[in-house]
Amino acid sequence: MRLGGAARYVIEIEEDKDLADAYRFAREKNLPTYVLGGGSNVIGRDGGFNGVILVNKLRGIYVIDSDKDTIRLCAKSGELLDDFVRYSVSLWNGEFAGWCGIEALAKIPGTVGAAPVQNVGAYGQDISQTLHSVCVYDQKDNLFKHMMANELDLGYRHSIFNTGDGVGRYFITSVTVNLHKNWMKPPFYTSLQAYFDEHDITEFNPQVIYDGVAAVRAGKLPDPAEFASAGSFFKNVYLDEKEAKEAEAKGIPVWEGGKVPSGWLIEHAGLKGEEFFGMRVSDKAALVLINESAKSYADLAKARHAIIDAVRDKYGLTLEQEPMELGE
Ligand code: EPU
Repeated sequence: MRLGGAARYVIEIEEDKDLADAYRFAREKNLPTYVLGGGSNVIGRDGGFNGVILVNKLRGIYVIDSDKDTIRLCAKSGELLDDFVRYSVSLWNGEFAGWCGIEALAKIPGTVGAAPVQNVGAYGQDISQTLHSVCVYDQKDNLFKHMMANELDLGYRHSIFNTGDGVGRYFITSVTVNLHKNWMKPPFYTSLQAYFDEHDITEFNPQVIYDGVAAVRAGKLPDPAEFASAGSFFKNVYLDEKEAKEAEAKGIPVWEGGKVPSGWLIEHAGLKGEEFFGMRVSDKAALVLINESAKSYADLAKARHAIIDAVRDKYGLTLEQEPMELGE
């Protein structure tokens, strides 16, 4: 979002073995740590971060195992997620013809290590569907550990890494996924299907899905290199059965699993394209906020307040912020 104050210390982590020293440094100074990947989903508060930022520079992508049904692909956590996704899709042309599982995660900004933290997902896939395991440095026990996907409590934008005692405890060093041969089939996620229909695309493979998602994203989501944004600024809302009935009676769309698209709520509260305190609600995707001229985190906080209040006044539902926050 290009807001917020400075960090007290920044350490670049280039190899796993740097971690013990980095955490020891923070402990000696009695300061908290924060692991930063690409930074595309983190908002800094105005008071800055009186702690140690660990910038993840761990690199490498490897095929580590395969049989006739799956291939296990591992990436060090500082690799860009999109590079990992493109690598997985490139296997399609090679010896391992037909592997898939993360191709719909095309063009998501940020690093591989961020993917399990909030169970990154888009266009019908999320990382929980293919995640095999992660390697972490656990700063509580000062040990490297291998954790299986089912130990991570993965849910919608949720894991042990962004909840409760798990926040700040682990540095994810690598992520391993199981790719498989069950290619996604139509009907696809609504906007992806609309793109394929419009372009008369009827034959699908991982590369076609990757290219389709990339095109849909380019049409809707601002490139963070050009526009200050954190992708979706709010989460979608999930309702239980009773709440879902009440919402439907008010004309609110409720999707499978009780999902209410928050973009619909923001648009129908009349906020799409509007500006609040220098923050613009994108006119292409109402869930996205773009920093056009906000000078501080305080401006963003006022904008967030205005949007949450307007949606609550009209629909009685409370939006929750999606990106993480850092600092005082
Ligand atoms: N909608 C509107 N108006 C809008 C935007 C959306 O009415 O301006 C309604 C429409 O009914 C639309 C539905 O919301 O069909 C869903 O919209 P869209 O497909 O644009 O997805 P989203 O719910 O806004 C989520 C993720 C995105 C991900 C897309 C595609 C969250 C918080 N966001 O957005 O992830 O790319 O689905 O799967 O779940 C991100 O997390 O930063 C992110 C971009």
